[in-house]
Amino acid sequence: MARPVDLQDDVATVLIPSEQIQAKVAELGTRVSSDYAGREVILVSVLKGSLPFMADLMRAITIPVQIDLMEVSSYGGTTTESTGLVRILKDLSSSIEGKDVLIVEDIIDTGLTLNYLIRYLRGKNPASLRICTLLDKPARRLVEIAIDYLGFTIPDQFVVGYGLDYGERYRNLPFIGVLRPEVYSG
Ligand code: PRP
Repeated sequence: MARPVDLQDDVATVLIPSEQIQAKVAELGTRVSSDYAGREVILVSVLKGSLPFMADLMRAITIPVQIDLMEVSSYGGTTTESTGLVRILKDLSSSIEGKDVLIVEDIIDTGLTLNYLIRYLRGKNPASLRICTLLDKPARRLVEIAIDYLGFTIPDQFVVGYGLDYGERYRNLPFIGVLRPEVYSG
């Protein structure tokens, strides 16, 4: 029988432990609840990486929220960075016209995905549009993005876990970890 694969063996270091993520999510939830008090916000999650963050954040928010899900991928090249063009694999389910919208992302890297999404969603005339991201990797930014709610700024390292993948794996790790270089180089 094949030996069971333990994902944690591929992680060199834990960058942000689960407890720290949960504390930050609670803090962000409190801020969102206070900032949007008396209003109803639509949380738009950008799949797949933001799934755990979205699931935790929405439960840390105490005001009424609606949720919607989008999924995007880069157009043509293997990474978004290669083209800057984004293809919508799954669009919004409901109209956001006149609504307060908060985009929920797991990470902003080059910024190209959000740059595209912001323009796309602004075209649908929401009352307001803000950005919430768990992670920010400013070292790789190609376009400026104004972040309204930020969890952690991280160094330019290959991170996985809490939604982030390498080759579709590692999304289920409960922490943010740095992958061992031999995993992606060999
Ligand atoms: C990741 C992440 C952002 C995007 C950020 O998604 O969830 O959407 O990359 O990168 P950028 O700032 O350089 O555009 P990915 O394309 O890996 O898809 P996934 O969420 O399904 O893993």
